[in-house]
Amino acid sequence: MRRGLYPGSFDPVTLGHLDIIHRASELVDELIIGVLKNSTKRNLFSTEERIDLLKRVTADLPNVRIISFDGLLVDCAVEYGTHTIIRGLRAVTDFEYELQLAQTNKRLRPDIDTVFLTTNVEYAYLSSSIVREIASYGGDISHFVPQCIMDDVYKKAKRGETV
Ligand code: PNS
Repeated sequence: MRRGLYPGSFDPVTLGHLDIIHRASELVDELIIGVLKNSTKRNLFSTEERIDLLKRVTADLPNVRIISFDGLLVDCAVEYGTHTIIRGLRAVTDFEYELQLAQTNKRLRPDIDTVFLTTNVEYAYLSSSIVREIASYGGDISHFVPQCIMDDVYKKAKRGETV
């Protein structure tokens, strides 16, 4: 079975992420979405909440599985039996960080490769932090996140508490 691992913070999942998830799920037999647990970042949504949002927006994709991980990404890839890490590339500004991440991971585990999918231009400017900021001011996020999670994002962002 060909598995791919799509890791990230997903705080919260955006339409840009979802576009990558749809396209990546067609490239592999099973797509594992790895939600980073112990980030140094303060998150708006807890790990369990981020998983729940992802489960809801991928409910129509039978070959997608959501898991959480802490520690090294390559260790997560080994644990879940995949040699392929998938990342989205939005703009040239992402490139330096993504290249460093991919090359570091390759040095740590030469048997694991990173594959980049270029983000649909429609979502090239989009990030979870932009969504959090707009939602915190009550702005319109309907073009940025799936409709079924919009209320959850507004509720959390307006309270402004982080976890
Ligand atoms: O959505 P993000 O925040 O851009 O995702 C970043 C992520 C989760 C891919 C990255 O922080 C990560 O892989 N973290 C796990 C620790 C690790 O393995 N770091 C890479 C070696 S530098």
